[in-house]
Formats: sequence, structure tokens, C-alpha cells
Amino acid sequence: MTGSNQTAIPSTLYPVSASFAATAHISSREAYDALCAEAQQDHAAYWARLAREFLTWQKPFTQSLDESQAPFYKWFEDGHINASYNCLDRHVQAGLGDKVAIIFEADDGKVTRITYSELLARVSRLANALKAQGVKKGDRVVLYLPMSVEGVVAMQACARIGATHSVVFGGFSAQSLRDRIEDAGAVLLITADEQLRGGKALPLKAIADDALALGGCDSIRKVIVFKRTGGAVNMVAGRDVWLHDVTAAQSEQCAPEWVSAEHPLFLLYTSGSTGKPKGVQHSTGGYLLHAAVTTKWTFDLKPDDVFWCTADIGWVTGHTYVAYGPLALGGTQIVFEGVPTYPDAARFWRMIEAHKVSIFYTAPTAIRALIKAAESHAEVHPRNFDLSSLRLLGTVGEPINPAAWEWYFKEIGGGRCPIVDTFWQTETGGHMITPLPGAHGLTPGSCTLPFPGIDAAVVDETGKEVPWGQGGLLVVRKPWPSMIRTIWGDPDRFQKSYYPPDFGGKYYLAGDGAIRDAETGYFTITGRIDDVLNVSGHRMGTMEIESALVSHPLVAEAAVVGRPDDLTGEAICAFVVLKRTRPTGEEAKKLAIELRNHVGHEIGPIAKPKDIRFGDNLPKTRSGKIMRRLLRVIAKGESVTQDTSTLENPAILDQLSESN
Ligand code: WT7
Repeated sequence: MTGSNQTAIPSTLYPVSASFAATAHISSREAYDALCAEAQQDHAAYWARLAREFLTWQKPFTQSLDESQAPFYKWFEDGHINASYNCLDRHVQAGLGDKVAIIFEADDGKVTRITYSELLARVSRLANALKAQGVKKGDRVVLYLPMSVEGVVAMQACARIGATHSVVFGGFSAQSLRDRIEDAGAVLLITADEQLRGGKALPLKAIADDALALGGCDSIRKVIVFKRTGGAVNMVAGRDVWLHDVTAAQSEQCAPEWVSAEHPLFLLYTSGSTGKPKGVQHSTGGYLLHAAVTTKWTFDLKPDDVFWCTADIGWVTGHTYVAYGPLALGGTQIVFEGVPTYPDAARFWRMIEAHKVSIFYTAPTAIRALIKAAESHAEVHPRNFDLSSLRLLGTVGEPINPAAWEWYFKEIGGGRCPIVDTFWQTETGGHMITPLPGAHGLTPGSCTLPFPGIDAAVVDETGKEVPWGQGGLLVVRKPWPSMIRTIWGDPDRFQKSYYPPDFGGKYYLAGDGAIRDAETGYFTITGRIDDVLNVSGHRMGTMEIESALVSHPLVAEAAVVGRPDDLTGEAICAFVVLKRTRPTGEEAKKLAIELRNHVGHEIGPIAKPKDIRFGDNLPKTRSGKIMRRLLRVIAKGESVTQDTSTLENPAILDQLSESN
């Protein structure tokens, strides 16, 4: 297992806060147990009940779960629904038109408030514009946009007309954008002139132009450009149009396209163990159901809350807990364009104070960076700010080390706010294992117990549940509504990756290791069991980075491993063999910079290795297999004590252990 932050489970247990539980939607362990029992008794009926309670259907479904083509499970398939209707129209019809849906804070601090009526009007206008540009139900639309109201509007507009969106994070390179457009076969791209973060502009449109010029994107007929900064762009006649131009004359009414609950709402590309990113396909009905139920129960969202999930819409967290979940419940949320460290590392705390944020959801990596800043610069310490509006905190994306948890609890939550450490994945659509804050006592570093209706278990290689206190593989034994439906264009890979024959093809394999506490049964995630790294909560495939490295003309071979990092959770460490003699000293330093930039150019800055080491060769077995296990030890700066007798070339270990 490659997981970092693998600390022994501490015994500290924070009991449920009585004052929190008093008003919580799920207000006791008994209430949680009752839901689990209901699901246990009739899994399909439990989810059907929630689907009727949480969502508005144009045509009710008659069957909840269809297992006839397992593991290609279907939920609520003959029901007709529209995600945008559920997120907007029904709230406006219920009299919430004037309620603020989004408080947008720009990078420069400018604040804009958008009500549900305004959001519906904007979504409808863009939806009409998309139709006018020839986008039809089932077409794929790629979004390459900054964190913005326009980003949320674009996702909702696609949903409104039954187009399947695929958001590509603004930090990805032209090559990565191109690959995703080609794989999705997208007909239209929506981008912006520039993205503004931390006072710096990133030329999204220029990168998009490069992506389209790389070839393979012939499916794209139009590019819609959102003018964010007014920076110079090159508009290609006949292909590129301005967002404000194409929406100007459109009506603010657009009838929602009713689709089957199984209609693909979106594709989101994520990294796996092999080179090519996979297009995770999500449904409309089942996905939206879980987005809504988890937002309500995990975050205990109430009508007066101000909810803030800091994730970018380029990641799944920004889909479920920015673009869909809070809106499905008619909540008020913050959308933030910038970064936590600009203009200084107190930005989050200042915003929580200014907007009276009550529920705050962020990544451990951000917390760790802000702890460091607060400890070295008193003026950005959270104690300088009034954070009393907060009542619940959350984390996601990677294990949180107990020390960071304690700081978050004490310094941000004032010792009064429960922390929900939510474990889930792009593929799961929403929370899988998470505290329900009115029901579960908390243990720092543990995501506690499965969400009601999620049958998570820790098993051995044969699929047998291991005793509490013993580590194993994390699986989900029953299908759930928001699960991945397939990998776009590659159903075989879907089946092989998530439903391997090992467990009779019946269990969903998460790809993480886990252990349950011997007394409480609480889950702790011990890290990925495949070649996937988690750097600052961003998922990266080692093979993807290796492919990027070997695409450099000087590189003969490369192996990438992760090593624990105090700030980013894991750091990328690359071992490289060149086609020429092994460089040392200044030359090695220069080449390392060149290779880092090359990876940044191929994939995006988030994939740049922190550490690059050059060798004459890599440690290999006699059959030529690279021994990554040994590379992980070396990457940590430790000396190899394991048995190396199967190694073809043991001397290489010393060379790779030297810093060049
Ligand atoms: C991987 C999924 C889920 C949205 C963001 C990441 C790791 C996620 C936790 C957590 C420990 C976590 C797992 C998982 N992970 N949440 N609370 N504790 N690890 O989505 O990019 O699909 O990555 O992130 O390793 O498999 P993703």
C-alpha cells in the first residue's frame, strides 16, 4: 500500500455535540441505525423512498434497481427527470425565487449575489443558446472554465437540455484538454478568455486554441467564450463566439428536457492505474439523489445555512457539492474564484467572517498550508477573525492527519463544530463513508461509518470480511444510486477496474485500503492500493506521469512513485534514465527543471514531480520488472533493508539513493 499519513488510530473520541444533535436532521445514533436497518431490510425500496422524497419526477419510476446487467446497474430507469428543474424551477415555484443561491466572490474580492430566479433565467438563456448552436440531447459539451457563476450556469444549462457535460479543470494542459475532448467526442467547448487566481491571469482560451490545433478534435463545431478579464484572445471566425453575444437575444424561458434517470448527466475524467485517464460516466437520477441526500444529512444543510465548499468545479467535489447538491436543496452557497493564500493566507477566514459561513468544506492539504502560514505569520491566524457563524466543518480528498484535524477543530471550529471527514471518490458520486454529525462521535483521522444505504466492508483478497482491527481492501457490496455507470467508451475497463472477478464480480473495488477500529468499527482509509497518487487531494496516475516523462526526447525510461509529504500528503518522485550518460551536478539540476516543465506542459502543473533523480538504470528483477517497492523506500530517503536477492542490478540502489 502506498498510502501516506498512515498513523495508528488514536483513541481520542469526541462525543456527539448535544447542542448540534438537538437540531440535526439525523439527530442520534438510533436514527442512523434505523436508516441502516431500513436499507438492510430492502435496499432497493429504501433508495426508492428517498428518490421520491428528495427529487421531483416528471414521470415516476416503477422500478428502483435493475440488476439484470450487473455490474452495469440501473436505478429508477423508467422515471423521467431533469436535474436543472430539480435544482432551480421547483424552488422558484415554491416561492424561493428571491432567495440567494450563490454568493460569488471574485479573486479581487468583488462580491455578486445571484438569486434562484436570476440563476434560472441565466441557465435558461444559455440552454437556449446551446440549442441555437446545434447542441442536442446526448451531445457532449466540454467546459474549460474558471470557478465562476458561469461555470455552474454552463453545467446546469447542459443538464437542462439533456447534453452531457464534461468539465476539464482549468489547470490541465492543452494536451490533456485535447485528449478529453477527443475521448468524449464533444461537439462544443465552453471556455473563458482568462482565468484569474491569486492576481495572476492564465490564458484559458489560448490553451484551448492549442488543444484544438493538436488535432483529433474534429467533433468540436463551436467554441463559446466567456469574457472574464477582457484579456486579448484570438477569435476564429465561424468557430468561436462570445457567451454574451450568443445569450443576448435568448429567452429566459427554456422548457427542461425530461430524460430517463439513467441518462448521462456528466463525464468526468480521472486517473487510474494505467496511462489513459478514464471518463467516469454518471447518471442523472441516481447521482442527483445522492448529491441531495448527502448534502442534507452529512452537512445537515438547513434553509438558513451559508454553505461553502471550496473545491473547483473541475473536480467531482465541485460537481456534487457546488453545482448540484446545495442547489438541489435550495441552499445558499459561496462560489469562490480565487486561492486561499491571496491576498494573504487569511482569505478563507476573512470570507467566513464576511459572509457568515455556517458550513465549511475543504481539503486537508489547504488546512495544512494554512496552519503553516498561521504559525509563522500572526496576522493571518484565524484567531483574528470572527468565525462564530460556523457550525460544521468538513474535509475531503485525502486522509487528514490527526494534528491537522485537531487544529481545524480547535482554531477554526472553536471546539464547537463537528468535523465530517468524508471519504468518497469521483466514481462514487458522493459521500460513502462519513460521520453524520448529529449521530456519530468523532475520531481524528477516521471517516467513521458508511452513509446509510452504503454497504461498505473491509475484505481480504478472497472477498471475505476481515475482523475489525485488521487491514484489508475497501469494497462496496451492494450497488448504490450515484455509482459510476461505466467508463465512457470502455465498458470492459469499467468491469475490470471496479468489478474484478476476484470477488465473484459482485463487489465494487474502491482501490483503497482500509481498517476498522477494533472497538467502534470506525473506518480509517490507509491509502491507495494501486498506482494512483494523491497529491494535495488531486488524483494522479503514476503511469500518466511516466508516459509524459518518456515523451521527452532525452528520456529512455522513467518510474514514478509517491512519498509522504507534510504539506501535500504525497509528493511525486521520479526516477529517470536518459538516452545518454547519467547527468550529475549542475547538469542534473538543469535537466530536472526541464523535465518538470515538460510534465507540466504535457499534463498540467499539478503533475510536476517534486523530486527527479537520474540513474544509469532502474532496479529491476531478472525478468525486467521495475521494483517500485524499493523505489518508494529510496524516495523516502530511507535505506533499503528488504531482501534484494531477486534484483538484477543491486548496485543501482546506492546510485539512486545519492542526490544527483
Ligand atoms: C481518492 C479519490 C472524493 C472527492 C475528492 C477526491 C482519497 C478521498 C478521502 C478521505 C482518505 C480520501 C482516496 C480515494 N480520499 N477522500 N476522506 N480520507 N482518503 O476524489 O480524485 O476521485 O480521489 O481520494 O484515496 O480513493 P478522487
